[in-house]
Amino acid sequence: MRHAMRMLRAMAGAALMAFVPVHAAGDQPTVPYVPTPQAVVERMLAMARVTAADYLIDLGSGDGRIVVTAASKYGARGFGVDLNPVRIDEANENARRNRVTDKVAFYQRNLFETDLSQATVITMYLLPRVNLQLRPTLLDLKPGTRIVSHDFDMGDWKPDEHVRMDATDKFSGAGGDSDIYLWIVPAKVAGGWRSQLTVGGKPQAYEFQLDQKYQSVGGTVRVNGRPVQIQGATLRGAELSFSFAAEINGEPVKHRFSGRVDGGRVAGEATLTGGRLAARVEWLAERTEAAR
Ligand SMILES: C[S@@+](CC[C@H](N)C(=O)[O-])C[C@H]1O[C@@H](n2cnc3c(N)ncnc32)[C@H](O)[C@@H]1O
Repeated sequence: MRHAMRMLRAMAGAALMAFVPVHAAGDQPTVPYVPTPQAVVERMLAMARVTAADYLIDLGSGDGRIVVTAASKYGARGFGVDLNPVRIDEANENARRNRVTDKVAFYQRNLFETDLSQATVITMYLLPRVNLQLRPTLLDLKPGTRIVSHDFDMGDWKPDEHVRMDATDKFSGAGGDSDIYLWIVPAKVAGGWRSQLTVGGKPQAYEFQLDQKYQSVGGTVRVNGRPVQIQGATLRGAELSFSFAAEINGEPVKHRFSGRVDGGRVAGEATLTGGRLAARVEWLAERTEAAR
C-alpha cells in the first residue's frame, strides 16, 4: 500500500512537472505543483492550532488554499510565496472569492529568499530535500513557531506530532493517504545555567549543564557540588521542564522545575517534594555559557 502510494506520488509529480516547470535558483530542487486536498489543509491548520492571533506563511503556496483557509476559517493573517506567476494569480483570485484580501497576500518569490521572521506558523508541501535545506532557517525562527509539513518530514528532527489520514481527492481524485507533521521550534537551551532557590529558609544553588538535540534535552544539575542526572526533560517551544532528585541538608528531595526560556533567562517555578523541605517557589535561571 505504502509502495503504491509512493509510486502514485512520483507519477503525479512527474506528470505535473511536465506541465509546470518551476525552477529555483542554484542547486535547489524543482518542486512540482500538487495541491493539498482541502480536508488535509483543514487538518494541518487544526494541528497547528491556528487562531486569529497567528501569522501564517505558506512556502510554495500554489492556489493559496492554505493561507486563504487560515484567514477565512480562523481569521489568521499571512502570505504565500510561489515562483509560478499563474499560481499567484490563482491565489489572489481565491483570496478575492473568499473575501480575505485584507488579511492575506501572495508574492511571486523564491521561498529561499523570503523573510520568515514574522511567522508564527509555517506551512509547506515541498520535497524531503527542500525540507532539509530549509531546516537550519526554520530552527532559527522564534521559539514556539509551529511548522506543518504535508507528506514530508525533516530527517532526524523528529516531529512533535504526526498523523496519517485518508485523502480521497488527492492527486486529482486518484486518492491516497497524507502524512502531516508538526514541529514546534525549540528554544536554544544547550549550555550552562545557574539559579538559586530559597529552600527551608536558606539559599540553595543549582548549576545546570544542558545538552540538546532539537527538542530533546538532557543533562546534569550540580547541587552542593554533586552532579545528578536530570530526568524527563521536555522542551516545547520555549516551555522547558525537568525533574531530578537531590539531597538537601541531608534530606532526599524531589525537584520539578518548569519555566519559560527567554534568551539567556528562564522564569518559572520549582516544586520540591519530600519531607520538611516541600515547597513551591519561584525559579529564575540565567545562562552562564552557551554550548559551542
Ligand atoms: C506541492 S505544491 C504545494 C502548493 C500548496 N502549498 C498546497 O499545499 O496546496 C508546491 C508549490 O511550490 C512552488 N515552488 C516550488 N519551488 C519553489 C520555490 N523555490 N519558491 C517558491 N515556490 C516554489 C511550486 O510552484 C508549487 O506551486
